[in-house]
Amino acid sequence: MNVIVTGCAGFIGSSLAERLLQQGHSVLGIDCFSDFYPRKIKEENLKPLQDYEQFQLVAKNLLELDLSELVKPTDAVFHQAAQAGVRSSWGSQFEIYTENNILATQRLLESLVGTEIPLIYASSSSVYGETTQLPMREDHPTHPRSPYGVSKLAAEHLCQLYWENYGVRCVALRYFTVYGPRQRPDMAFHRFIRAMLTGEEIEIYGDGEQTRDFTFISDAVEANLRALASKKWGEVYNIGGGSRISINASIKLLESILGKKAKLRYKAPQRGDVTHTYADTHKAKNDLGFVPKTSLQDGLTAEVEWIQKVVLPLLTQ
Ligand SMILES: NC(=O)c1ccc[n+]([C@@H]2O[C@H](COP(=O)([O-])OP(=O)(O)OC[C@H]3O[C@@H](n4cnc5c(N)ncnc54)[C@H](O)[C@@H]3O)[C@@H](O)[C@H]2O)c1
Repeated sequence: MNVIVTGCAGFIGSSLAERLLQQGHSVLGIDCFSDFYPRKIKEENLKPLQDYEQFQLVAKNLLELDLSELVKPTDAVFHQAAQAGVRSSWGSQFEIYTENNILATQRLLESLVGTEIPLIYASSSSVYGETTQLPMREDHPTHPRSPYGVSKLAAEHLCQLYWENYGVRCVALRYFTVYGPRQRPDMAFHRFIRAMLTGEEIEIYGDGEQTRDFTFISDAVEANLRALASKKWGEVYNIGGGSRISINASIKLLESILGKKAKLRYKAPQRGDVTHTYADTHKAKNDLGFVPKTSLQDGLTAEVEWIQKVVLPLLTQ
């Protein structure tokens, strides 16, 4: 196949692109190297992809490209590009979210009208917002709690609209906190591991009893491949790792993996953060055959190794 991976220099996009290349597919990666986190981390993510002749990078913003031309020779689009991050989506920053998350998705969908090219959209558990209905199921109400969540839900609705009105073949995957090697530096595990390795304090927002359903990166990648193969156009799936744990308990686990005590500082909860996430993944299991494989212990160990070997040396250069 010839596939497009948008956001291919980012955490999930680069991991997905690498798996596709390993499987022998040709990948056209699109990424504008947004300044949300250091470019050198994204360049590092891209290095293994650049070993493949079948990899081509278009280092541009989706909004500046002639997408109808780009998608012509393509068999599928994995749309991972977005401005991520819940906490930074308030205030004047929201414009960045509307452009990269909503408008860019709409442009991509327009370019697929009249084609049979499927689009797998990276949605988010943040579309659910604060809820007492746990585990979260795809047919539960969506009340995002952050502008980021609103932007991800808006784009999910656009996928639905383009499927219903124009037959654009879309599937939306609602990822639940993805972690592992290449995880974004703003995300909790990345921050925690780095702080513990360098002896710094870990800032915890709230009392640490909030829970997340953590999903290892290779399981999220697998879900994308299965979503394409299953052809359940117009559907939405929860992609959760089955590793639900509180922030306090995850720090205890990291302490045992690293063999050292964390220095903790508790701060006020952040606007936009929800108390719990917990995915009901029955639908993904039934329709896609999706079953997460990696335990939190193994996944965190892999992330620790990557931060030690890649991130720390990179940041001291
Ligand atoms: N990481 C998670 O836990 C998680 C959870 C839920 C949903 N998601 C979604 O998964 C996707 C990937 O997330 P990630 O953690 O890999 O983020 P990331 O920031 O590492 O990767 C996103 C990439 O998209 C690029 N990008 C942004 N806007 C673009 C544009 N207009 N044109 C071209 N490139 C653009 C950025 O430069 C970045 O490299 C996003 O859509 C995010 O909303 C992630």
